[in-house]
Formats: sequence, C-alpha cells, structure tokens
Amino acid sequence: MDYARFGISRLDSYLGGGLDRNTINLLIGRSGIGKTILAAHWAAEGAKNGETVIYISTTMNKYNCKNYLGDFSFMKDLYEKIHWRFIRIEPKYLLPMSKEKVREALEATYGMRGEEVDRVIFDSCTDLEKTLADVVLYRRAIRYMADLAYKYEFTSLWVEEAPMNGTWSDTKNLVETAIFMNILRIPDGYIRAMRILKKYRSMHPLEWFPYEITKEGLIVKEGWYVKKDYDYKFKPSRED
Ligand SMILES: Nc1ncnc2c1ncn2[C@@H]1O[C@H](COP(=O)(O)OP(=O)(O)OP(=O)(O)O)[C@@H](O)[C@H]1O
Ligand SMILES: [Mg+2]
Repeated sequence: MDYARFGISRLDSYLGGGLDRNTINLLIGRSGIGKTILAAHWAAEGAKNGETVIYISTTMNKYNCKNYLGDFSFMKDLYEKIHWRFIRIEPKYLLPMSKEKVREALEATYGMRGEEVDRVIFDSCTDLEKTLADVVLYRRAIRYMADLAYKYEFTSLWVEEAPMNGTWSDTKNLVETAIFMNILRIPDGYIRAMRILKKYRSMHPLEWFPYEITKEGLIVKEGWYVKKDYDYKFKPSRED
C-alpha cells in the first residue's frame, strides 16, 4: 500500500507505514510544541516524492514562513516545491455558512484543480474555530472541508492547538488519525513526546514516544514513556 509518509522512519513505522491516502488526519498539541514543524516534514516528504502539496497557513506570512521553515535542513531544495498559501480567515467569507461558500473559499485557496492535489495541510483549525466562535458552525465548516478532501481524493493533515485547560474541540472526532504532541514531566525535567490517540485500520502503540526539535527538524527518539502510576493491573483468568 502507498502511504503518505512523514519521512521520519520511527513515526511512519508506528503509524503502520504512514498516513493512509485519502484520509483526514490531525496533529494536536499546545502552542510551541512542534505541530507546524511536523506538518512541514510531511509537506516536504510529499514534495520530495514529486507529489503536489498545498500548505495552508492561517498565521504565518510568506516572509516569516520562509525564514522559519525554509531554514530546517529537511526543507533543503524542497521549500519552493511546496505550494504555500497564506490566508486570513474572515467571517465575511464564510457567513452565512453554506457548503458552497466553504467550497468556494477552499478552492480559491488551493488555486488549482482539486484533482491535481495529493496532500493538503491546514494550519490551523484553531483559527477557523475562533473566527466562527460557535461549535455547531465550526463542526459544519470542518465537515464541508472533509467532504471536499474525500471528493478530490487527497490526503489531509490538519493542525489544531490544544487548549491549556478546558475541553477539546470536535475536530478529533471527525478525523481518522489523531496525534497528540505534549510536554511530559520526568524526574530530571521535561521532555517532548507524542502519542497516537487513534488511527483507523491499524494497530498502533499506545505509549508516549519522545522527540526532539533541532535545526535538522523533528527527530523521534528511541524508547517509550509510560506513566509510573496506574489504576489497573492485569490478573490472569480466575481458576475455578
Ligand atoms: N531551529 C530550532 N532548533 C531547536 N528548536 C527549535 C527550532 N525552531 C523551533 N524550535 C522549537 O520548536 C518550537 C516551535 O515549533 P512549532 O512552530 O512547530 O510549534 P507549533 O506547535 O506549531 O506552535 P504554534 O501553536 O505556536 O503554532 C519552538 O518553541 C522551539 O521550542
Ligand atoms: Mg504552528
């Protein structure tokens, strides 16, 4: 099977090969955790394979994005091959909301025929959610966005900021893969780690796996983290 890989071998292998084609996938984590860098790896890997990749950013602009992401070594010779789209989400483009409006806004953003596209990154959903400021409208907007992705048969990676406290949005319920990036407290400080919250169609590890960010990009390290306290313990079947 042809997976949409990240090009980070440990992560791809934990995902059973990579992201499944023609699915919607999510990176979620707090601000500064490495979501954009990981999404950029996935974009670069697609471009490296000659795929058509669109990276939609709602927060960066063409100058700071190139200065930032263009500097990582995994982006070498690939930055210009990615179709970067810098947009500002304005309520007036979306409201009153209809499927047609969302489709038109997205197609204008792609700037090419949907059939030609292989990978789309949307960074971030949080901006859309905050602009709409309504859970029902937001759910509809992402549903329409997903419908379009399935129709054009590309693979999507959405990025979402996890709230520092309070409940998570509905996005994770709609996607097929969700990867949660976090900072874990360990005896001698803090580490970055991620875990696969879900992935349809494959077995995946449940443990946290550590990663680092360097100027080379995101590096998944060896090994696992599990909580040192637990509530449940396995007991073999009762002997009668
Ligand atoms: N060149 C670098 N070397 C080492 N660490 C870096 C480098 N560039 C960025 N970082 C680390 O990566 C973090 C930012 O990663 P990234 O931009 O992917 O975050 P994000 O999860 O997208 O955050 P946001 O919600 O603000 O968009 C920085 O806070 C820093 O810790
Ligand atoms: Mg970001």
